[in-house]
Amino acid sequence: MAQNWTPNSWRQKPIQQVPEYPDAAALAATEAQLATFPPLVFAGEARRLKSQLAKVADGDAFLLQGGDCAESFAEHGADNIRDFFRAFLQMAVVLTYGAQLPVVKVGRIAGQFAKPRSSNIEKQGEIELPSYRGDIINGIDFTPESRIPAPERQLDAYRQSAATLNLLRAFAMGGYANLENVHKWMLGFVKDSPQGERYKKLADRISETMDFMSAIGITAENQPSLRETDFFTSHEALLLGYEEAFTRVDSTSGDWYATSGHMLWIGDRTRQLDHAHVEYFRGIKNPIGLKCGPSLTPDNLIELIDALNPSNEAGRLTLICRFGYDKVADSLPKLVRAVEREGKKVVWSCDPMHGNTITLNNYKTRPFDRILSEVESFFQIHRAEGTHPGGIHIEMTGKDVTECTGGARAVSAGDLQDRYHTHCDPRLNADQALELAFLLAERMKTGRDEKRMVVNG
Ligand code: TRP
Ligand code: MN
Repeated sequence: MAQNWTPNSWRQKPIQQVPEYPDAAALAATEAQLATFPPLVFAGEARRLKSQLAKVADGDAFLLQGGDCAESFAEHGADNIRDFFRAFLQMAVVLTYGAQLPVVKVGRIAGQFAKPRSSNIEKQGEIELPSYRGDIINGIDFTPESRIPAPERQLDAYRQSAATLNLLRAFAMGGYANLENVHKWMLGFVKDSPQGERYKKLADRISETMDFMSAIGITAENQPSLRETDFFTSHEALLLGYEEAFTRVDSTSGDWYATSGHMLWIGDRTRQLDHAHVEYFRGIKNPIGLKCGPSLTPDNLIELIDALNPSNEAGRLTLICRFGYDKVADSLPKLVRAVEREGKKVVWSCDPMHGNTITLNNYKTRPFDRILSEVESFFQIHRAEGTHPGGIHIEMTGKDVTECTGGARAVSAGDLQDRYHTHCDPRLNADQALELAFLLAERMKTGRDEKRMVVNG
């Protein structure tokens, strides 16, 4: 493993989930062009995220990571980005207030375009076409032309990522995320829901606290942390040719960084130790994630940790667990024990979405109660093992979609057809996301109270 690494050494390894581009020369030309474009993120930002994640690994912060399953070219508008950000800020504020821990904020956004697929072929009736692999690769329309992988799409994905990131930076630093606006993040359709009521109460208390602080001279004007927030981007680095083009040497440290996003993760389908994705990831210095599904054995995991984080740096590696509500109790404890036994520093994050996908009325959906159940088990297991349930990884949107069933407003199987807009997997709507945030805040608070009681005897 200690062999020489270069941004393209992954090309010597076996690889899963690669699209078949019909024109290799056109692909190479696009990749060469991308390599001349400015990076989307700066290495110093990735280091800052890593140091925040190190706090999560130590049990002193919580990671909130979420966004679309797949971003799409068709839905790239300011309203979508703003509504996502509002829902995300609401979750963040609920978690910060409830758990009394700093929340590390990472979007699945500004680069989340490439999708691994379980089959290379999609069949509708008698017709078979190549599967849709995300807008960065091919089109979602079920036509032969649309499904041909087209390199130019990578240029569009870069442009969209840059524009999205630009707006998010403006929101995060330019006043939108100011805690004085805590009431304004409420989305219209959430207002009258039970979650909306709950949120309003919490926002009232925050406003009161802000008024008190302002009376003693602490205001958003003189205290940047009240008006700004660190918001980071992340995506699954599946399309390695694109990633290679954005892999750059950081002039301040001399290290290689992926500059297509702050944090990248390896999917559950592409985490083979001797394959291309692990090879690529071991050479970049960004904070990274590894998706852990039911087929991952403890020995496997330790080998992967050794390959990906040989210096055992806290904050470098986040294990994103996606087992399913009925498998988590069987799968997670043995991984936690192996990691503890070997003294590995990791962030444990729960992805309660991907192990809980079912089909109802021909729609891919996820029952909200199973999502909550996996989260509950995740917390219980970490409490039992004495480890920190460090974060959550979800697919969500700020829109009022009907993609996951259940929740306080009870989306039914029959409702799925109403507003089912996802380009890939079903997402939590803003209401469901907020409900989840309240549950998480409660669980974290209980965990912390118990710890304090132990400390104070
Ligand atoms: N800067 C702090 C933080 O990011 C407080 C803060 C400002 C905040 N705006 C926020 C927290 C919006 C949550 C949501 O944690
Ligand atoms: Mn997904």
